Amino acid sequence: MLNFHKDHRNLVNVALLVFVLLSMGVAVMPASEMEHNAPLPGMPEMTPAERRGLAVYVSENCGACHTQQVRNIEMDKMWGTRPSIPSDYHYSKQRMDVWRQSPSLLGSERTGPDLTNVGQRQPGEQWHLLHLYDPRMVVKGSIMPRYGWLFEETAHPAKDAVIVPVPKERLRDTAHVVVAKQEALDLVAYLIALKQTPLPDGTPPPGWLPTPGRKEAEATVDNTSGLPDGAEIFKGTCQACHQADAMGLAGAFPPLAGSAIVNDTDPSLMISIVLGGYDARPEFGAMPAQAEQLTDAQIAAVVSYVRGNFGNEATAVTEEDVRTLRSTVAPQTMLMP
Ligand code: HEC
Ligand code: HEC
Repeated sequence: MLNFHKDHRNLVNVALLVFVLLSMGVAVMPASEMEHNAPLPGMPEMTPAERRGLAVYVSENCGACHTQQVRNIEMDKMWGTRPSIPSDYHYSKQRMDVWRQSPSLLGSERTGPDLTNVGQRQPGEQWHLLHLYDPRMVVKGSIMPRYGWLFEETAHPAKDAVIVPVPKERLRDTAHVVVAKQEALDLVAYLIALKQTPLPDGTPPPGWLPTPGRKEAEATVDNTSGLPDGAEIFKGTCQACHQADAMGLAGAFPPLAGSAIVNDTDPSLMISIVLGGYDARPEFGAMPAQAEQLTDAQIAAVVSYVRGNFGNEATAVTEEDVRTLRSTVAPQTMLMP
């Protein structure tokens, strides 16, 4: 019946039918399914600054080295509390403008860490600015390129300029300061907003697939105190700013080694600083609150670890000490700077 040699009309019609079916299957249906990809309840809409920051992220091609996808395999557990789901990308999937499609941020190359939850891990604006100005100032031996063109060295900063605490010896002239350009501020606003939204109550999170041949790593627990491993928490949370040797960075982050606050016999101030953040002195940046990131046991562990290491000789603290203080730390000081 379908003799394509003799009936060219049939040939065209069948080709057309195949074309239409394929288009439906591989383009139209997936696209319309994406339309139903609603934001999670409680998911904050992107602010204009964050959206501009997303454009900087795309134009600087940060995605060449950074992914934004927590895969459902166990080795990705360190990048988020659950595997990523389509709704996570709801707001970032709006078109850039009339001419450009929504960017693909999932990435395929993980030369640097996954950034899905970086705002949770690293909420400090100043840290991000220093890191973009020169990653090696805050992470020794980092291979991330510096993004110096997002900053400006000037002798006459505007009144409302955001000054980045770059050490004087790095500047062309000691009378200069480094000012973050709007692009840098937008990019950092975007990075700090990168947080996984919790699933609505009762929704089971997608499961994790075990890595073949690998037993699930158990969280290390210190046998003597029963608390989590303070050294691990220090590495994961505090070291980025206070540095691996706890000597801090002049002009940005104070040393914890030999600090009077750390060595105080009364640990209350130190615990409150970790819970609620700290911005007491103009010569240093602001420390972001950790109350949302760390549990009482984790804070007790890391505070005890810092008090007993780096040449510090103060006593350990208990989970109870942290619990008591958590309820007294004023909520407004818990807001992230
Ligand atoms: C050549 C690869 C490369 C490029 C390009 C790159 N990064 Fe990185 N990035 C890294 C590496 C490696 C690290 C880990 C070492 C460090 O923290 O500096 C990192 C770390 C980070 C971190 C800290 C993550 C964490 O978990 O602590 C952030 C934030 C970040 N990069 C943002 C960016 C942004 C924004 C851009 C684009 C402007 C960018 N990166 C471009 C390689 C890269
Ligand atoms: C984003 C950077 C950042 C991170 C992460 C960070 N801090 Fe801080 N921290 C600071 C800054 C900045 C200050 C100084 C604030 C000021 O004095 O204005 C500070 C001050 C402190 C102080 C007071 C020290 C003194 O002598 O004045 C203690 C104690 C402290 N931090 C402990 C910690 C611990 C423990 C952690 C990890 C759980 C941590 N910090 C994580 C930036 C950070």
